[in-house]
Formats: sequence, structure tokens, C-alpha cells
Amino acid sequence: MNFEILKTDFEDGILTITISREKALNALNRQTMLELRHMFETYAPGLEGLNGVVITGAGSKAFVAGADIKEFTSLDAETGAALAKRGQDIYFLIENFSKPVIAAVNGFALGGGCELAMACHMRIAGEKARFGQPEVNLGLIAGYGGTQRLTQLVGKAKSMELNLTGDMIKAEEAYRIGLVNHVVPQGEEVAKAKEIISKIGKKAPLAIAKAIECINAHFNEGKAAYQKEYQNFGALIETEDMREGVAAFVEKRPANFKGK
Ligand code: CAA
Repeated sequence: MNFEILKTDFEDGILTITISREKALNALNRQTMLELRHMFETYAPGLEGLNGVVITGAGSKAFVAGADIKEFTSLDAETGAALAKRGQDIYFLIENFSKPVIAAVNGFALGGGCELAMACHMRIAGEKARFGQPEVNLGLIAGYGGTQRLTQLVGKAKSMELNLTGDMIKAEEAYRIGLVNHVVPQGEEVAKAKEIISKIGKKAPLAIAKAIECINAHFNEGKAAYQKEYQNFGALIETEDMREGVAAFVEKRPANFKGK
């Protein structure tokens, strides 16, 4: 598949994806969603030496201003539900990706854009970033997981407030309520995301994948996630990387992990 809307850059083990529909504030139309699916199902998993992924938006105004509202006019109940389910399925691919995926939020992250950022493992906000779930202004609700992930990230009270009022919040407020990991000067979001991925890239890849799996399991499997944790812990004990990590500690040298 040729990417028409997603621009990619792969350097030093980091794949940077820029959603590029600047004139529409990077709104997620059908083609963008198809490309995102292909990206996380096929393209990114096939990259040799990948340590992590950064997602950002083209231009200085928007990360992603939501699903493309102009495509909503032709929908009915069945196709509307199918559109939301397709979006959810794609965001699950991102959430369950075995390498860290970080949203570098450079502007408006609204509706499906806020939901995309929340499906990522972490969020870095530029000072001008704005977050919100404004679907109620359209007579809708969030459809790409926003009622669920916002509640997971900021708790029921704030999720209720944001989902019911449709209000936008600034980057500092998003940081205060735990929606974003860091706020950085405008334009430095991608660099900060890359810095974090580089740090994670020095750790054992199998351990990183298992940690992501266990943390996600908290939300999907409840108490059974503890079982997943001890089972994954046991599986990692037998890896070459674990032996290397322990040997490096004892020998007081940096570990050289191989993902085995
Ligand atoms: N879909 C389609 N086009 C969009 C868009 C969207 N979500 N957001 C912005 N655009 C387009 C505008 O239509 C406009 O295009 P034209 O020049 O052709 O008219 C262009 O982007 C620039 O936008 P504005 O002129 O509106 O820019 P602004 O600075 O005045 O306002 C904004 C910026 C506050 C972000 C405003 O564009 C806005 O409110 N956008 C819609 C946000 C929204 O409601 N998002 C939720 C979508 S529904 C959803 O995402 C459901 C889900 O959960 C999956």
C-alpha cells in the first residue's frame, strides 16, 4: 500500500509518522484510517531495528482535529457503528503495539484526535496543544474509545466533564489531570518523544513488550492481569537478555540486549 497521507521517517530505530492533511487540520478521513491500519498491522512491525513510533500532525496548528466530520453525512446507524468499530480496532492495534508509541501533540487533539493520542502509550504536549472530546456539539459521543480511555487516564469525574461539556483544555491542564506525560515548548514535542524512545531502546525489547502487555491487561482483564504479570515474568527469566542484564549488573557494565 502507498501512503498518501501518512508521511514516514525512519531514523535511529524510531519511526516518525506525520498525519498530513494540514488544510483539514489533519482530520481522519477514510483513507487516513486505512493507512493507519496498514501502518500498525504490516509496515511498522516489518521494520528491522524498530525501537518505537512517534505520531504527530503536520503543521503547527493541529495534531488531529478529529474524525472527518464531512464524511458523517452519508452514514446510517449500521454504517456509523461500523465506522466507530473500525476506528476502535485500529486504535487497539496501536495500544497493543509491542514497541512504545508516543503521541507528539503539536496542536488541537480533538475527538478522534484526542482518542488517537490516548491510544498511544504516552503523550507529549507542546505548549499550544488543546485536548477535548467535542462530539456532543455534533449530537454525537466519542466513538474511537474516548469514553473509555479518557476515564482510564483521568478518572470518572474529569472524563464526565470533558465528554459531557465538549470543553477544550490546555496543555498545562492536561498535564495536571494526568492526560499527558510532559509539556514542552512548542515545536519540541517530537524531539522529547524521540528522547524517551531512545532511552527505552536501550532496554531489553522482550521485557518492554511484556510490560506493555501487562499494563494494558489491567484495563481489559482486571485481576487476571496479575496472572499475566507473573507468567510473563517467568517467561522473561529464561531469555538471553535476562542473563545478559544480570551479568552486566554484576560486572558493573552496560547491558547489550539482543531481543532474545
Ligand atoms: N473534520 C473535517 N474537517 C475539519 C475538521 C474535522 N474534524 N476539523 C477542522 N476541519 C476543517 C474545517 O472544515 C476547515 O476546512 P475549510 O477551510 O475547507 O472550511 C479547516 O479544517 C480549518 O478549520 P477551521 O476553519 O474550523 O479552523 P478554526 O481555527 O476556526 O477552528 C477547530 C479550529 C476549533 C479545531 C475547529 O476546526 C473544530 O471545531 N473542528 C472540529 C473538531 C471536532 O468536532 N472534532 C470531533 C470530530 S467527531 C469525532 O472525532 C468522532 C469520534 O470520536 C471518532
